[in-house]
Amino acid sequence: MCGIVGYIGKREAYPIILEGLKRLEYRGYDSAGIALYDDSEIKLSKTKGKVADLEAKAATEISTNGTLGIGHTRWATHGIPNDINSHPHYSNSGNLVIIHNGIIENYESLKKELLKRGYTFKSDTDTEVLINLIEDVKINENVKLGKAVQIALNQVVGAYAIAVFDKKKPNEIVVAKLGSPLAIGIGDEEYFIASDASPFLEYTKKAIYLEDEEMAVISRKKGIKIRKIKNDALVDPYIQELQINLEQIEKGGYEHFMLKEIHEQPNAIKDTYRGRLRAKEGIIKMSGIDDNLERILNANRIIVVACGTSWHAGLVSEYIFENLARIPVEVEYASEFRYRNPVITEKDVVIAISQSGETADTLAAIKLAKSKGAFVFGVCNVVGSTISRETHAGAYTHAGPEIGVASTKAFTTQITVLTLIALKLAKEKGTISNSQFHMQLQELELIPDKVKKALKYDEHIKMVASIYKDAKNCLYLGRGYNFPVALEGALKLKEISYIHAEGYPAAEMKHGPIALIDEQMPVFVIATKKGHYEKVVSNIQEIKSRSGKIIGIVTEGDQDVKYIADHVIEIPETLESLTPLLTTIPLQLLSYHIAVMLGRNVDQPRNLAKSVTVE
Ligand code: F6R
Repeated sequence: MCGIVGYIGKREAYPIILEGLKRLEYRGYDSAGIALYDDSEIKLSKTKGKVADLEAKAATEISTNGTLGIGHTRWATHGIPNDINSHPHYSNSGNLVIIHNGIIENYESLKKELLKRGYTFKSDTDTEVLINLIEDVKINENVKLGKAVQIALNQVVGAYAIAVFDKKKPNEIVVAKLGSPLAIGIGDEEYFIASDASPFLEYTKKAIYLEDEEMAVISRKKGIKIRKIKNDALVDPYIQELQINLEQIEKGGYEHFMLKEIHEQPNAIKDTYRGRLRAKEGIIKMSGIDDNLERILNANRIIVVACGTSWHAGLVSEYIFENLARIPVEVEYASEFRYRNPVITEKDVVIAISQSGETADTLAAIKLAKSKGAFVFGVCNVVGSTISRETHAGAYTHAGPEIGVASTKAFTTQITVLTLIALKLAKEKGTISNSQFHMQLQELELIPDKVKKALKYDEHIKMVASIYKDAKNCLYLGRGYNFPVALEGALKLKEISYIHAEGYPAAEMKHGPIALIDEQMPVFVIATKKGHYEKVVSNIQEIKSRSGKIIGIVTEGDQDVKYIADHVIEIPETLESLTPLLTTIPLQLLSYHIAVMLGRNVDQPRNLAKSVTVE
């Protein structure tokens, strides 16, 4: 979590850093800060709140000149979000200044040592400990900043992406990475530093992504020198040509990124299967699977590890893999799996799902599975992300940048990739008939248009949202493939509207949750024609007879549920295994409209951050 930005070059650093911080606010928005070098001084401004608050404060507090600077937007870990705990942090001498994304786990013992040596601390942060450790090394060992950073980091346990500069040596910035992402944009005699490439896309498409345990000294005059933090070995920089452009990360006329991303789903799903799915020829091509087919087909089981919405996509895939490919699947919260001493063998295939490709728990679960000899396959959206590099093979979702904190198009594109994999394996194993296989492929190709159609019910969904926006609690029910969609619907509502919501398998109602039903309780029930329809209709009757308010997500033309429910929202008909790609659409829109009507910050809900790089 946290976003970091830096600039060194010929331009004014302030506007570049400020705009960059706005683009990185999805990573955290508890506080923001900036430090510029100008006229032999460090000009520092920081504040609790968002980048807009920083902008207002900095304008009155500091001169914003200077061609070198660093900035930070924070998701608080150590210390409450307040002005003092905000980054950047000075060292005791005031010469050094740092921004940091990550956690220094042994900061308390380091702090004790530094206190003994006379250092004082203004904030409660681990980051202020790190900058003083760097200063201590620099003074005592009489070394340059780069060396001091290296020696200090060798004493540190934890995760970091840092940028540091020294006002006595204002022609360089030192950066380092372990566990948190750090990209360096290469311009013409100018360099950009950022947690991802979005802050520098309009300036350069050339970027270096530092690997874990690497650091770089970025010098105005001498360019970039990358080294291994542990053994000091020089690293040849690998400069990538970036494929994303600025339009992809802007709102494009929508009021919120979340709404834009909901509406992008038809194209995003198409982009996910483009070049992979050839429905007419009955071919699915996925190099990550093709190149490792034997290993995957011989797996005893698939273990899916993920967090949050990605975990819900994993749950959908359990139904898909088991039904179509007859492969046993276990779906695990990465955070539980990694600490559970799970039984993993070389015959297991682990699928790690992550939009950001940076989620700390998922990454740790991958490392654990690899250490036990499992084959690990990644399903990520962010190209070049840590998880995509840590896995043996993988498939990108190609959903394009997802900026809204609440995940939408990542979910449907993850399901699309997982469906392609399951169908491919099913074909190879012979667990699906030719006609079923072709039908699945053809229907998958129609999904983008059906999503478009589902989006057309938006006005009606908005009307339904207006009726239930003041609910204090909501239930979401679904069965089979749509049970995970019920969980996802509930998650979407709680994270952006702050209304308490629970997702349940519809038949579990009678084992407890039914006690909650009264006339105040809206119950969103996924009741599509294919998928335990009659059973779900019986569940709806049970809710009705206890005066619950029923909102049915139904197949177009449905009459039975319409007759019982208070409201219905239609989706086009499709195969049962593909229904999650459609049923999720009205639930996303419902949450979105409710949150907007309640005046919530839809794209940046409280306490959350887009990529969770802390455990
Ligand atoms: C919910 C949401 C989170 C993420 C979770 C995993 O809308 O966005 O629950 O799904 O933090 O993130 P990734 O997929 O980046 O690993």
